[in-house]
Amino acid sequence: MKFLVTAGPTREHLDPVRFLSNPSSGKMGFAVAAAAIRAGHEAVLVAGPVSLRTPRGARRIDVVSACGMLDALKREIASADVLVMSAAVADWRPAECSASKLKKSEMDGVLRLVRNPDILQSLHPLKGSRFFAGFAAETGDPEAEALRKMRDKGLDMIIANDVSSPGCGFAVSTNRVSVYCADGSRTDLPLMRKSAVAARIVKMICALARGREAGCRSR
Ligand code: C5P
Repeated sequence: MKFLVTAGPTREHLDPVRFLSNPSSGKMGFAVAAAAIRAGHEAVLVAGPVSLRTPRGARRIDVVSACGMLDALKREIASADVLVMSAAVADWRPAECSASKLKKSEMDGVLRLVRNPDILQSLHPLKGSRFFAGFAAETGDPEAEALRKMRDKGLDMIIANDVSSPGCGFAVSTNRVSVYCADGSRTDLPLMRKSAVAARIVKMICALARGREAGCRSR
């Protein structure tokens, strides 16, 4: 199968040297792409600005903003079997982006923002029989929000974690997640390295997608 995986933050520029972003390292998405390749699949990584080496065998497309990520995914989705959205997409962007550096004297302390598109919702009309998985990074018990996001974004699976608990979430090498599937199942994984979390996620996706797609080689 072909896995299309997003990773990292997006940057929403207000001028060439200033942007809104978040501390996502991209480790989880890169681990998912690497795990897909290890399991015998094809992987295309659509990555926001991160400083990670591309997993051997993955094709990487670098993007900057949420709109750039959406454009890249629209080009790639037709040939994909699975979409895993692990990118921490910025929900807002500056209403205007200046082509040249804004001078302090030109800024009045007010930054007008507009909503970014929700990438998963925008891609939903192109979903067909493809398997869509998302991540929900929450502070506190993530279950209610995760289930809401799975429903609202039309997902087959959502991987939820409490980013405020030790060893979880942004910029660390471990994660503890709960995996919710549209069939109502819930799997709680222990605190593990992100590479091990990714291997379990790929295996679960394969098991669920096997009925839909020929050629899945789950290990
Ligand atoms: O940011 P949020 O908690 O809504 O993210 C949940 C899921 O939705 C993640 O998989 C994320 O990659 C995706 N997302 C998206 N488009 C956005 C924001 C988030 O597809 N604008």
